[in-house]
Amino acid sequence: MTTTYPIAVIGGDGTGPEVVAEGIKVMDALAGRFDLKFDWQYFDFGGKRFLETGEVLPDSAIDELRRFKAIYLGAIGHPDVKPGILEKGILLRLRFALEQYINLRPVKLYPGVETPLRGKGPEDIDFVVVRENNEGLYLGAGGFFKRGTPQEVAIQESINTRFGVERCLRFAFDYTRKRNKNKLLTLCGKTNVLTFAFDLWERAFHEIGEKDYKDITLDYAHVDATCRWMVKNPEYFDVIVTDNMFGDIITDLGAMIQGGMGIAAGGNINPDGTSMFEPIGGSAPKYTGQGKINPLAAISAGQMMIDFLGETVAAETLEAAIIKTCGELKSLSAGRMGCTTSEVGDLVAKFVME
Ligand code: IPM
Ligand code: MN
Repeated sequence: MTTTYPIAVIGGDGTGPEVVAEGIKVMDALAGRFDLKFDWQYFDFGGKRFLETGEVLPDSAIDELRRFKAIYLGAIGHPDVKPGILEKGILLRLRFALEQYINLRPVKLYPGVETPLRGKGPEDIDFVVVRENNEGLYLGAGGFFKRGTPQEVAIQESINTRFGVERCLRFAFDYTRKRNKNKLLTLCGKTNVLTFAFDLWERAFHEIGEKDYKDITLDYAHVDATCRWMVKNPEYFDVIVTDNMFGDIITDLGAMIQGGMGIAAGGNINPDGTSMFEPIGGSAPKYTGQGKINPLAAISAGQMMIDFLGETVAAETLEAAIIKTCGELKSLSAGRMGCTTSEVGDLVAKFVME
């Protein structure tokens, strides 16, 4: 019997729709092989709609999207729209409204992919960052006082709740257990300076870990040291859990060591609700419509989505096809792949069927 998955698709801005189209091509090929069906439902949120109608994301959209288990997202960010409007109004709004409290970002170097880390290979670069996705500095708490005057004050507060921190940590512990690599969970923080926020994180980390996860080794690193080790000893890491802001920053570093924005993908996860999968890179407007952008990051996001839906074997098959494709490309960078965006999609779709 065919299993059907209704999926909401938001291509978004710039090269978003192009890379999403390749992901859909590949997933449809995969569906054929595994007796699955994806029922793609398209939504046009993004810069173009905002410029035409003034609407960023109508309230009704949230309720509509809530009916799906998964959203497949391209990219948000338009050169003619002031930075922040679409990012906050669409991407962050969806992450918050749909309570996608985890941002899961694997950092995995595939064979044949170039990393800027000399002497490091696929056996060294294979860890996962669990980024808290609903709190911290991203809540937008704060404000101005005497804005535009010499006495101006700008305050931006990091909000950390026991509830939010605990559910993130529990997810990270469970994930580390399930991943079953070194069973090492590193809390990445800044306990020496952010003595309120990371005091809560560290206390919760130890309380939960020592009580419910005796099989997991608890580890701690300051965020600056984490960056150092990601470059010098990436093989040390298994799973890293961290707050929203630090997670944002260290996963861009992670993306670079795994081969760049052409391959890095992430999942905004609500384990009990609607999750959203996206390439980590932005809308790359200068490449729009040129067939130069690498769709592998979006295709990898599709792989995470399929895995999340519980189709483990199909997800593994797709990952194998992505790995084979990496071996065929001259480079993972836009415009230097040795083939077009759509040819990369064709290659993955072909390998999926082998
Ligand atoms: C990311 C992006 C977003 C973030 C921006 C676009 C709001 O950088 O997904 O990492 O900061 O979370
Ligand atoms: Mn980011």
